[in-house]
Amino acid sequence: MKTIAVIFGGVSTEHDVSIITALTSVITPLKLAGGFEVEPVYISKDGRWFWDQRLADVKLYQSGEIEEFMRRAPKVHLSFDGGLTLVKSSQFAGRKAYKKIDVVFPALHGTHGEDGELMGLLEMANVPYVGCSMPASAVAMDKVLAKQIASSNLIPTPKYTYLFRDTYIQKTSDCLKNIENELNYPMFVKPAHLGSSIGVTRATTRDELQNAIEVATYYDDKVIIEEEVQNLIEVTLPIVGNEEIKVACLERPLKSTAEFFDFDTKYMRGGKKGGKTGSGRDSQGYSELPAKLPKKLYDKAENLGKQVYRVLECSGIARVDMLIDEKTNEVYFNEVNPLPGSLYAHNWREAGVSNTQLVEDLVYLAEQRFKKKSRSVTTFDTNFLKQF
Ligand SMILES: Nc1ncnc2c1ncn2[C@@H]1O[C@H](COP(=O)(O)OP(=O)(O)O)[C@@H](O)[C@H]1O
Ligand SMILES: [Mg+2]
Repeated sequence: MKTIAVIFGGVSTEHDVSIITALTSVITPLKLAGGFEVEPVYISKDGRWFWDQRLADVKLYQSGEIEEFMRRAPKVHLSFDGGLTLVKSSQFAGRKAYKKIDVVFPALHGTHGEDGELMGLLEMANVPYVGCSMPASAVAMDKVLAKQIASSNLIPTPKYTYLFRDTYIQKTSDCLKNIENELNYPMFVKPAHLGSSIGVTRATTRDELQNAIEVATYYDDKVIIEEEVQNLIEVTLPIVGNEEIKVACLERPLKSTAEFFDFDTKYMRGGKKGGKTGSGRDSQGYSELPAKLPKKLYDKAENLGKQVYRVLECSGIARVDMLIDEKTNEVYFNEVNPLPGSLYAHNWREAGVSNTQLVEDLVYLAEQRFKKKSRSVTTFDTNFLKQF
């Protein structure tokens, strides 16, 4: 039996999405796969950690009982002892409950989790963990850094520039002029580190640009501004693997009335508000799966997705989003999600990989990467201290 700690929730605008990812697409399939003891670890919206089997029940969150649970439950402590051990007070006064963890499965989306922060902690704990490494997660979750690395590897991206909040406040009109010199309208303005379209605005005039930057700087101190890709087709490609990689299906999310994908369209339409418009329904709304593109264009997008995964040094799992100009057939890299919502299990299923197989593969890949990294020597003998 391997003990897997699934960490979810978190201090992020995507807290609730993370609960669904963890409960439905990670914990349930890990239990079904057999051979795993699953330990749910929940991080509250204000950053408190809890560890309890009851946290794997979605009803706890739906009924609001979670508040009462958190008031009573003992907090979790992490012990770094050549690995990771979870520690909490047990129901027997004065005794503690311990659980040594073999592999951590992070199921956090967005800030303070998917962005490498949790991975840094797990690196320090010296425990294998599922998904992208700390540096790859941090790069993927910074839209500017990801595009800089992609473009330095000759991967096409929409033309972009970026700014920091303080510079913008101090030199607003210079910043606006510089942006207009570099880019043509319409532009997309986005917080560099957020997801789910939060704070993303399309701008067609100077006034709109100014408003859009104000919105984006409200959420983030780094903001990216991009030229709009014309005749847009959006596609996304889930990928798993370390050195050897495997792709699922290229998927085309379909929009309806919304001008572009906003939070509501992405996460709410799968629920009560939605009407079936596409060939498939998924956690993100509606989509064409696999995307109906001419073979050549499909292959081009798939190859670009794989190339992005490699140059950003992703491992474990990620999803690469691309923007296609349907007239010119140019494929542009848009962004990478190191932990796709619900692992994009619906897409893997379409590609012939069941959710249980997917989580088993991911645990294996985590251990494989950990073993490889452990081969590097971390000590170096010197006379430095004696000479000091
Ligand atoms: N350069 C662009 N050209 C055209 N549409 C864009 C561009 N950038 C973003 N969009 C639209 O805005 C949406 C959200 O932008 P995205 O970069 O994916 O941010 P998020 O991380 O919030 O998902 C995209 O799904 C797409 O519909
Ligand atoms: Mg996106």
